[in-house]
Formats: sequence, structure tokens, C-alpha cells
Amino acid sequence: GVTALQLAHELGIEMEGACEGNMACSTCHVIVDEEHFDRLPQACDDEEEMLDLALGLSATSRLGCQVV
Ligand code: FES
Repeated sequence: GVTALQLAHELGIEMEGACEGNMACSTCHVIVDEEHFDRLPQACDDEEEMLDLALGLSATSRLGCQVV
């Protein structure tokens, strides 16, 4: 599948992804609509760890490079 980060780039939307999807940064942090959040596969431990460092963390935060 295409990740949110890839999709944004394809659509020409400015979205940061400093580590190119390697879960080594949190610049691709996105807040997902609650409605869609439950449909996403769960974040893995690495993703959770990076999210803990993300600015403005919310209950439905994900890394944009990991959500498909
Ligand atoms: Fe770095 Fe997503 S691009 S964690």
C-alpha cells in the first residue's frame, strides 16, 4: 500500500519525512481523524517510541510514513 507520506508527496503536499519512513524521526507526525483511527493497523513499538517524542502528541497520533 501507499503510506500517507507517499500519498502526500504524490499529491504535491508538503509533508516532512526526514528519515524517509524509517521510524527514526517524528517529523511525519499526523493526527488521524477518530473515525479512521480505529481502522488502521496498530502502531508497532518502534512507532510508539517515536510518537512519544512527537510534538503535540494526541490520542490518535500516528507516523505519517507508517499509516497506509
Ligand atoms: Fe521519519 Fe516517518 S519519516 S518516522
